[in-house]
Amino acid sequence: MSSSADVAQERRAPARASFDGLRLENLTKSFGAFTAVDDLDLDVPRGSFFALLGPSGCGKTTTLRMVAGLETPTSGGITLAGQDITYAKPYKRPVNTVFQNYALFPHLDIYENVAFGLKRRKAGNVDAQVKEMLSLVELDSQTRKRPAQLSGGQQQRVALARALINKPEVLLLDEPLGALDLKLRRNMQIELKRIQTEVGLTFIHVTHDQEEAMTMADTVAVMNAGVIEQMGAPEELYENPRTTFVANFLGQSNLIEGTIKGRSGDLVTVDMHGIDVSVPAARSHADGDKGWIGIRPEKVLIGDPGEQLDAPGNSVPGGVVSDVSFVGVSTQYLVRMPWGQELQVFAQNTGHRRIYRSGEQVDLSWRPDYAFLLDASQDARAGAQEGTD
Ligand SMILES: Nc1ncnc2c1ncn2[C@@H]1O[C@H](COP(=O)(O)OP(=O)(O)OP(=O)(O)O)[C@@H](O)[C@H]1O
Ligand SMILES: [Mg+2]
Repeated sequence: MSSSADVAQERRAPARASFDGLRLENLTKSFGAFTAVDDLDLDVPRGSFFALLGPSGCGKTTTLRMVAGLETPTSGGITLAGQDITYAKPYKRPVNTVFQNYALFPHLDIYENVAFGLKRRKAGNVDAQVKEMLSLVELDSQTRKRPAQLSGGQQQRVALARALINKPEVLLLDEPLGALDLKLRRNMQIELKRIQTEVGLTFIHVTHDQEEAMTMADTVAVMNAGVIEQMGAPEELYENPRTTFVANFLGQSNLIEGTIKGRSGDLVTVDMHGIDVSVPAARSHADGDKGWIGIRPEKVLIGDPGEQLDAPGNSVPGGVVSDVSFVGVSTQYLVRMPWGQELQVFAQNTGHRRIYRSGEQVDLSWRPDYAFLLDASQDARAGAQEGTD
């Protein structure tokens, strides 16, 4: 392809307007002097399972409420399949919402709860559609029970069936699993994913649980203080975070201060407290000459002093084990380094290696490919406590 064809392709980019998914453009919502959603740009492809992930108060519900038409944006726009719906009435939008508290009608049985929307619209073929939905959410045998006679997970599925039967273009799910205990929640995550794949609708799932977002979604947008910090496939966000907030909120990260010495080819060399380590250029997001070297705890190998752990590796000698937690599948260590910082190391309990004890001398090592480098101007603790549920 010639470059002029590429240019022509780019010029045609305003045909972005024909994007058939949900698009938020410069979307802002202020409550008085407080900006809850700040100039948000977001494209949600049609048919995708999209997660909006962020700590409490970051603006997730406010964003969903604007999409549903329950909140008027202060500025910016919302389009769905090219149609401007920014100011459309909620019931005119092909959008349905499932809330955390289900909001089922207590006096109606399950069948009538699911049939409600269709009957109100005087739709035809109600019985067949209700039965199809109840079978999709695997509640065919419970149709004559009232909501109070169902478990939390079953009520959740009724709420889902009641929303899906309207065949919305977009289904908004605002912490729909928040009221469930952990085991049921894990089951429902798999169920929801199955149902989404089966119906093929666009799901936007709001959660502050990073594991939930990563398990379920094709694309995760990490939101912080009204803005999207980073968006991408779960693996991409986890392996190559661009900010300290994303590095800490999505899983855990060791962030170590370093001074950039130089770049050659695909590698950046960084002085880490007197030790040269390398980071791939594609994972380097630092602007100045300082940066935070990031490495995930499960990527760090632990061994005896002087032991060749892996090659090629960033080898870091001089550690002392300061804490050991045995958690079954792995052993989680804290290792105090010569510069005073404690690093986290998660070692799989394969049985091939012995478990170190507190006070033992160890060396650490990790593959340069797994490291990342973040801008030093950010707080290394950003998002650290909020990610753990
Ligand atoms: N009607 C309102 N008036 C004033 N402030 C509001 C209003 N609605 C939301 N806010 C504020 O906007 C911010 C974002 O709220 P939002 O409900 O969108 O957060 P969230 O990300 O959904 O949080 P959570 O995970 O706790 O549900 C919060 O600081 C909240 O106090
Ligand atoms: Mg909320």
